[in-house]
Amino acid sequence: MSRLSTPLAIDAPSLVDDTDAALARYREEFAADLAAAASDDDATLIHVRWLGRKQGVLSSLMPTLASIRDTDVKRRVGQALNALRDQLTADVEALQVRIAVNARAAAPALDLTMPSRPTWRGAVHPVSAVIDEVTAIFRELGFTTQLGPEAEHEWYNFGALNFPENHPAMDAHDTLYLGAGALLRTHTSPVQVRTLQRFKPPVRILAPGMVYRRDFFDSTHAPAFHQIEGLAIDEGVSLVDLKATLAEFARRFYGGTRRTRFGPSYFPFTEPSAQMDVEVDLGDGKGLRWVEILGCGMVHPAVLEAAGVDSEKYTGWAFGMGPGRLALSRHGIPDIRILYDSDVRFLEQFAR
Ligand code: PHE
Repeated sequence: MSRLSTPLAIDAPSLVDDTDAALARYREEFAADLAAAASDDDATLIHVRWLGRKQGVLSSLMPTLASIRDTDVKRRVGQALNALRDQLTADVEALQVRIAVNARAAAPALDLTMPSRPTWRGAVHPVSAVIDEVTAIFRELGFTTQLGPEAEHEWYNFGALNFPENHPAMDAHDTLYLGAGALLRTHTSPVQVRTLQRFKPPVRILAPGMVYRRDFFDSTHAPAFHQIEGLAIDEGVSLVDLKATLAEFARRFYGGTRRTRFGPSYFPFTEPSAQMDVEVDLGDGKGLRWVEILGCGMVHPAVLEAAGVDSEKYTGWAFGMGPGRLALSRHGIPDIRILYDSDVRFLEQFAR
């Protein structure tokens, strides 16, 4: 649109004496502007020219209006100017709508042969996916989920779990102490005690969560990692139930593609204690090897008693597995650190 001309000025006498005729000239000029407008920018120019707060034509009449002494005349002229402003505002808005509708109608048709832009799809982190999967498998076996705090009392983390005072087993956990009897839990086993304090047996729960150890990163260790605790307590529960349940879990999790084995182990809170290993090729050229994926055992009577459960009546088992290790063994990943790198080139492989 060509540059807009400056509208004729209206002097005070003609505005006062013949308001309608004076404003009619403005309406004509405005109508000509509207007729010439072809784009959204034109509409903006018109708005600024006529309705702009500082330089707008209507604003430029305000001093004239203010100079009118007679209050009746002033009211009459003021009302006429307000009506004009309302009408111009409505016309500019209608113009903008008309331009938008025309622009859409004139746009070229959708080109279906145009290559699409690449899109990013989010992926569930492999460790989160493992936690979801393990939880789902055990849900089918009748396990519900319980959570516990990551900042934990020493008693729940060690004392109630039958760690003797100052026992070297506590060193093996490389604990991060918070002071005043608190620490960052070194395993999810404290949730066993918390759960048994809240619910009467039979109890069958899974407790996923973060645990912390004063450890450095290497290919198999991290200072903060996930665990999934399992606990089953009832009358007459035996080691056979434990082995059968974990073997069934492994069958479902690995789809029968990996060998697993049980071996003896030691934990203060289980007796007897065991571990389960899975045979995997981690893709590092070293071939098949056994990797520990969980510790387990029959819950020690002292733990049941500490949680207020009658150990004469009830028995049960527990396990603690590392979903990071499960993810490595599932996908053949040689180094646990890659799970912490947030490298999209690695993570996007898991997009489903
Ligand atoms: N809490 C043990 C660990 O962190 C694992 C475990 C859990 C072992 C339950 C036996 C029973 O190593």
